[in-house]
Amino acid sequence: MAVEIHSKSAIEKMRATSRLAASVLEFIEPHVKAGVTTEKLNGLCHDYILEHDAIPAPLNYKGFPKSICTSINEVVCHGIPEQRELLDGDIINIDITTILDGYHGDTSEMFVVGEVPPHVTKLIDVTRRSLWLGIHEVAPGKRVGDIGAAIYEYAHDEHGYGVVEAFCGHGIGRKFHTEPQVAHRGKRGKGRRLVEGMTFTIEPMINEGSQHCEILDDDWTAITIDKKLSAQVEHTILVTADGYEVLTARDAAFSM
Ligand code: MF3
Ligand code: CO
Ligand code: CO
Repeated sequence: MAVEIHSKSAIEKMRATSRLAASVLEFIEPHVKAGVTTEKLNGLCHDYILEHDAIPAPLNYKGFPKSICTSINEVVCHGIPEQRELLDGDIINIDITTILDGYHGDTSEMFVVGEVPPHVTKLIDVTRRSLWLGIHEVAPGKRVGDIGAAIYEYAHDEHGYGVVEAFCGHGIGRKFHTEPQVAHRGKRGKGRRLVEGMTFTIEPMINEGSQHCEILDDDWTAITIDKKLSAQVEHTILVTADGYEVLTARDAAFSM
């Protein structure tokens, strides 16, 4: 399957939807506090996205029942918002995908509820840094394997964390998930060649223990097999003439 190379006008639409997705994370951040339910966070994000003339892509996507994904503690990804209140010490990934003018923007961030011990902060820091090391590989002529190698060498080889292989980054545009697959483990110089005008996500899931996951009976929620913590962050990236543009970038505090 061919990877889509976006026209100038499509790139403008990818910029707009990605900017909106990023703004949802900024909007929701002050609400991520002990006592709030993930269902409440879902409703707030849902309404915000509709108010901005967009559609929350997860809702009814392959049967997913809610508008965002909320993945707490040992949940690796695709957690379903519910009547579960956030507790002091929880970590939560909120994953937002918008459809604006027919184009998808996909980004997620980790939030901490109250205080967490240093080993938890470190897991999140390494996860965020691994995403940015992957992003720094992106340029025309580079390969998808360069991205995965950078992430894996840092998170696994240097820090000993489990790098989840069951879920990947993905091409994105008019479709939510398309080619190329962007694995978070790879070999330098291998895999698809990156071309100016491609858009895809990088979204490493990094586990304190085993990289292996199981899926709960709801057919969505992926959890770590050893119930240890998992963290994830995600950006939508455009390949530019001389490197990359992080379409879902927010303020500098989240960049590395
Ligand atoms: N946003 C997720 C991703 O990064 C996909 C969620 S699919 C859903 O690819 F159906 F769970 F919403
Ligand atoms: Co994604
Ligand atoms: Co996502």
